Parts: sequence; structure tokens; C-alpha cells
Amino acid sequence: MPYILVLYYSRHGSTKELAQHIKRGIMQHDGLEVRLRTVPEVSANCEATAKSVPDEGAPYVSLDDLEHCASLALGSPTRFGNMAAPMKYFWDTTTQLWLHGNLIGKPACVFSSSSSMHGGQESTLLSMMIPLLHHGMVLLGQPYSDYELSSTVTGGTPYGVTHVTGINNQVELSDDEKSLARKMGARLAALTLKLQG
Ligand SMILES: Cc1cc2nc3c(=O)[nH]c(=O)nc-3n(C[C@H](O)[C@H](O)[C@H](O)COP(=O)(O)O)c2cc1C
Repeated sequence: MPYILVLYYSRHGSTKELAQHIKRGIMQHDGLEVRLRTVPEVSANCEATAKSVPDEGAPYVSLDDLEHCASLALGSPTRFGNMAAPMKYFWDTTTQLWLHGNLIGKPACVFSSSSSMHGGQESTLLSMMIPLLHHGMVLLGQPYSDYELSSTVTGGTPYGVTHVTGINNQVELSDDEKSLARKMGARLAALTLKLQG
């Protein structure tokens, strides 16, 4: 069965929650599986190594997960308007896939969370698109026909799904953010199925 890789990094759980709503949207379609995966922390101490399996939550992604996915949803919290270092570190290990063109023509969408409303969500989404474009992936945005995009006073952008967490990461996902995440997942699944023929 073809699968969609939902790959995210999350320290406080918001980006993880968005990933779960995207997964729900994907599962509205039959004929696809979902692999929920994360990446380990990176350390300034080059001798520190993480356990190969996390204590809880999604397993760590492998290059094999990425190579064989039918499509990808990629998420990271906003870090100074950019994707978080653990996610960037993972993409810096994907050279072999790039050399072999393994991701060319596969659809992808991006998602993010930030503590403040105008704190760089859109630049973070764009930062995640850059390595995906280098890999030849086909990027999927969110159209304004998803009506929540025009009225949301929380997250939600045409570049990808977002959530505003508040300064202490305690704000729950709004109904608009949840709905936009599910619609994005469903759209990614529909396009993936079309391209699978
Ligand atoms: C190093 C660092 C940089 C951050 N930079 C920003 C930022 O530029 N804009 C912003 O609104 N929030 C920023 N934040 C807050 C995070 O985006 C927020 O805690 C995150 O979205 C929570 O996601 P998570 O629950 O998935 O970990 C930053 C947090 C850290 C630790």
C-alpha cells in the first residue's frame, strides 16, 4: 500500500498536533497508509547520541521512509522565522536521495507553529519548501476555497497549515486551524492517489 509520510519536529506538542489533524484528513481517503515520523534533537556536543527509538510518540524517520513515500507533509515549529535545526539537520542527510532523484515529482505540503501571530510562520513554511524544491517535489498550497482561510483570526496561510501557540505554548488549536489541517491532508491524499493512477 502506498503511504504518505507525515514528518514533523515538535518540542512542545503543537506541531505534533497539527500533524495528527493532517493525518485525519489523509485518512478520509481509502487506498493510502500514513507514516507519522519525527526527528531526534541535535546537540552542540558532537559526542552526544540519542537512543535509536524515542521513549514515546512517533518513531524517528529513516531515509528509507522518505525514499519510498508516495508524498510528504513536512512540519516544524518556527525558530527565528526558519525551520528548527533538528529538521534542517535531517534534510542535510538526504544527499543520496537527491543524487538518485528519488523524490522528483512527489507531492508535498508544509506546516508550522509559532508562538506569535506575525512571528515568521510564512517564512518558516517557505524555508521548508526550499529543500523540497531542490529535491524536485511538487508543492501543494492551501486555496482560499477552503473558506476558513479568509476568516481565521488564528493560524492558516495559503503557503501551508499553521497554529499560533501563544507565548507559553498553551493555546489550543482553533477550529479553523484544525479544519484547515484536515482539508490540507485530504487534498494531499487526493492528489497522491491521482498521481498513483
Ligand atoms: C529558538 C527558538 C526560536 C523561536 N523563534 C520564534 C519566532 O521567530 N517566532 C515565533 O513566533 N515563535 C518563535 N519561537 C516559539 C516557537 O515557534 C513555539 O514555541 C513553537 O511553535 C511550539 O511548537 P511545538 O509545540 O511544536 O514545539 C521560537 C522558539 C525557540 C525555542
